[in-house]
Amino acid sequence: MKKILVTGGAGFIGSHLCERLLAAGHDVLCVDNYFTGTKKNIQHLFSNPMFELMRHDVTFPLYVEVSRIFNLACPASPVHYQFDPVQTTKTSVHGAINMLGLAKRVKARILQASTSEVYGDPEVHPQPEEYWGRVNPIGIRSCYDEGKRCAETLFFDYYRQHNTDIKVIRIFNTYGPRMHPNDGRVVSNFIVQALRGEDITIYGSGSQTRSFCYVDDLVEGMLRMMDTETGFTGPINLGNPGEFTMLQLAEQVLTLVGSKSKLAFHPLPQDDPRQRKPVISLAKSKLDWEPKVALEDGLKETIAYFRKALT
Ligand SMILES: NC(=O)c1ccc[n+]([C@@H]2O[C@H](COP(=O)([O-])OP(=O)(O)OC[C@H]3O[C@@H](n4cnc5c(N)ncnc54)[C@H](O)[C@@H]3O)[C@@H](O)[C@H]2O)c1
Repeated sequence: MKKILVTGGAGFIGSHLCERLLAAGHDVLCVDNYFTGTKKNIQHLFSNPMFELMRHDVTFPLYVEVSRIFNLACPASPVHYQFDPVQTTKTSVHGAINMLGLAKRVKARILQASTSEVYGDPEVHPQPEEYWGRVNPIGIRSCYDEGKRCAETLFFDYYRQHNTDIKVIRIFNTYGPRMHPNDGRVVSNFIVQALRGEDITIYGSGSQTRSFCYVDDLVEGMLRMMDTETGFTGPINLGNPGEFTMLQLAEQVLTLVGSKSKLAFHPLPQDDPRQRKPVISLAKSKLDWEPKVALEDGLKETIAYFRKALT
């Protein structure tokens, strides 16, 4: 049993992670400022005496005794991270400095939830961990992309300079129950619009592809990465390499929901990446991990969640 800190624990991925850690018998401290997360995501955990919740903003230092840290605090969808871009960069960068400082002080192992956005709009497809990316440093997505890139830099500098026990994962599009209904991310968008009978928003021609990983698969990969030997730092890609166009996703959602919504085409937002797909050979060989949940099954779970949440 370990004392584990999850920053951003009241968010979508964080709440599933807290659940899994508690189920494995750990003592979990969930820290969140509720910017995009909500107590509702974790209220089913309140009765567990091993679960503790703290309202705190990671841009300020934190003094607690833990042996492991999962650093997830950061708004993840463009609508939310562009709401206050300066705060987004602060959350990534100051948040990383504060959590790394904590890890250094208490000699904790720390895992950073980085992102496929560090690859930007890639010229290499699919993306292996060795690819350095193609990121616009001055665009409207930069607060997130560059913030996350700088956080990775800090993790590796703490590793080289202070021997901090770090792990870095690069998460590709993940979906599932407890996604924010208005976060503008494609899976939640399509499902919510289909359930409400509204037009389905397709940006561009809808031929751009994405890969979608179900949250249970992702959390399994995160736990496996955290348990690797000291010195195995990553970065490691975690995502589902199955590639779908936006039109394919929309059709599947409409069929599963049984909706008569129509498709509505809109211009592509600035810097929207055309393709994204992870190379997961490192995760396969090192973590013996690969996604197991088929898109259709994951969508069914997510649709069931939103059906309930919207009524
Ligand atoms: N969901 C994805 O597809 C995806 C992909 C790549 C990376 N990630 C990363 O995974 C992590 C979790 O993402 P998510 O999808 O669960 O998003 P989310 O928005 O649901 O979760 C983020 C959580 O962090 C909290 N938070 C934000 N700023 C904070 C601050 N300054 N102090 C304390 N808490 C703060 C939010 O309130 C929220 O609970 C993020 O770091 C994100 O960048 C997610």
